[in-house]
Amino acid sequence: MNRVYNIAVIGGDGTGPEVIREGIKVLNAASSLFGFQLKFDYLDYGGERYLQTSEVLPEDAIERLKTYHSIYLGAIGHPQVKPGILEKGILLRLRFELDQYINLRPVKLYPGVDCPLKNKSPEDIDFVVIRENTEGLYAGAGGFLKKGTPDEIAVQESINTRRGVERCIRYAFEYCRKRNKNNKLTLVGKTNVLTYAFDLWERTFYEVAKEYPTIKVDYAHVDAITMWFVKNPEWFDVIVTDNMFGDIITDLGAMIQGGMGIAAGGNINPYGVSMFEPIGGSSPKYAGKNVINPLASICAGAMMLNYLGEDIAGDAIERAVMQVTGNNLKSLSAGEMGYSTSEVGDLVVKYLIT
Ligand code: IPM
Ligand code: MN
Repeated sequence: MNRVYNIAVIGGDGTGPEVIREGIKVLNAASSLFGFQLKFDYLDYGGERYLQTSEVLPEDAIERLKTYHSIYLGAIGHPQVKPGILEKGILLRLRFELDQYINLRPVKLYPGVDCPLKNKSPEDIDFVVIRENTEGLYAGAGGFLKKGTPDEIAVQESINTRRGVERCIRYAFEYCRKRNKNNKLTLVGKTNVLTYAFDLWERTFYEVAKEYPTIKVDYAHVDAITMWFVKNPEWFDVIVTDNMFGDIITDLGAMIQGGMGIAAGGNINPYGVSMFEPIGGSSPKYAGKNVINPLASICAGAMMLNYLGEDIAGDAIERAVMQVTGNNLKSLSAGEMGYSTSEVGDLVVKYLIT
């Protein structure tokens, strides 16, 4: 049996290409070890290309990306490009047009990692946030009236469709059941104020819950959950929430697992093409210096393998990463690891093959 996967690689901006290079080093080692093949196609989408061509994405980009098994993304964001152009024109456009309606963000404290929370250890911090990824405030609904005048009005609406909310919630219940850790799913919302959007979320949540009698259901307001993440992260197993709240709480999640150096995510279309990325930015000030931490990108690669059905390889990479955090790295921060970017990639490969 020959398992061959075609992967589109978008290194992107800043440190993106460097961390992706280490991710590919590890993925290649895993593929020879576990007997499958990865074919990488490098696409130059990002800030440099935009500055040279004035085109954010080529016209055929979406159709082209649809032909791959998966997309492996570094980072998007360039200091010479106005904020929003690349983020909306590349990252959000791909999420929307490829209908990657799930943003999966594991929050897991690995051994040896310095946690900013007092008295919390890896047993206490191990949960997954499932963020809706195509609707809500990100849908771009709204507009200006009387722009630039003292009477200016700006409206930004949160779009929540029954279909969009339900498919996300369903994915979360399925995920929670398969994960089989505490079998607890927490809905995060703001039902006390956003009484339209989260009314729909809440009704849908409890309706779908009836089909999953083995899953314990739980609810938290978004403001309260930021408190619980700091005080009692051990309460959480799987969390489901809308796009905006998911964006915010997963940055907090990344910090309690040790920082952006380790936080990975997947933009998932269970029936289409998914895209895996470190969730941090392009860190232009560290670009080209071989000091950035590639572990988030390597973990995103592991998530990609799990998604492709190569679970044994994906899990093995994760274990190798835990050896590196447990035995080697002084810190997860850029320039403070005690190793260079490429040395960290080499260490992961070393643990993987031994
Ligand atoms: C993220 C990022 C993006 C988002 C930005 C870069 C558009 O913050 O992936 O969380 O808001 O979704
Ligand atoms: Mn974010």
